Amino acid sequence: TRAHTYHLINLTRPVPSVALITLNRPKALNALSSPLFDELNHVLKDVDADKEIGAVVITGSEKAFAAGADIKEMKDKQYSEVYGSNFLSHWTYITSVKKPIIAAVSGYALGGGCELALMCDIILASPTATFGQPEINLGVIPGAGGTQRLARTIGKSRTMELVLSGRNFSAAEAERWGVVSRVVGEGEGEVVKEAVALGEKIASKGKLATQAAKEAVNHAYEQTLTEGLHFERRLFHSLFATNDQKEGMAAFAEKRKPNFTHS
Ligand code: CAA
Repeated sequence: TRAHTYHLINLTRPVPSVALITLNRPKALNALSSPLFDELNHVLKDVDADKEIGAVVITGSEKAFAAGADIKEMKDKQYSEVYGSNFLSHWTYITSVKKPIIAAVSGYALGGGCELALMCDIILASPTATFGQPEINLGVIPGAGGTQRLARTIGKSRTMELVLSGRNFSAAEAERWGVVSRVVGEGEGEVVKEAVALGEKIASKGKLATQAAKEAVNHAYEQTLTEGLHFERRLFHSLFATNDQKEGMAAFAEKRKPNFTHS
């Protein structure tokens, strides 16, 4: 991996065959700003090209994997801007990475944070992990795959309940529903340790078969996902034409309850 300085993420190699990417924007609970995603995409491109690396682990802090897209960055955006720039489309790069990616989730994985975890190949969760798609509380909907990937993973009724109510779900629920492959033991750093060990095991296999296996599983899973995601993002963009988006996001930034006018 060529030397590069990152500001909003850290890249380490806990073992030679595993790249560990740690989201590092603690003051904003790892809110996924555009600069953070640019760095993430950049490092993913590098590790995907590095022949020594056989698996990637993405994690956050004990308190937050990621608390979502950056609401403060989004709050004043207009429809013309989000549609015109195809806002959030650069989030999908991670899904084209050839190497297996494991999300090691502790704390909040909300909104875009939950969606980022869902874009990874495997999710391991700490018992403290809290997932959710709270976008409805901001006058919008998930815009990075939440409605599509959750529906495919946990079915319509649960997805509807979560997306329409905005309620969070626990690590135990995530395990029961198959959102995560397993919940690891308690203890600080445990989920990262487990994810790195799993990554090392995966990296010890033949790389071509690993690439083929990932491609095959994704094929079963993604058949018509592309259309669904495109449709979802367009709807997400359109909500920037509503007053409720302005109100929902302004209220968050001002730490008050939103007063939706349904307009
Ligand atoms: N965007 C921007 N800033 C955020 C953020 C976000 N998504 N989440 C947290 N922060 C900031 C807070 O504004 C706060 O900043 P200040 O110290 O400058 O006030 C800092 O991080 C710490 O957060 P809190 O004080 O709120 O911490 P808490 O422990 O009281 O609450 C929380 C934690 C419940 C996760 C709360 O921060 C929260 O509700 N965050 C927003 C969650 C959310 O709505 N996510 C969805 C975003 S929209 C989206 O993701 C769209 C999409 O589909 C792509």
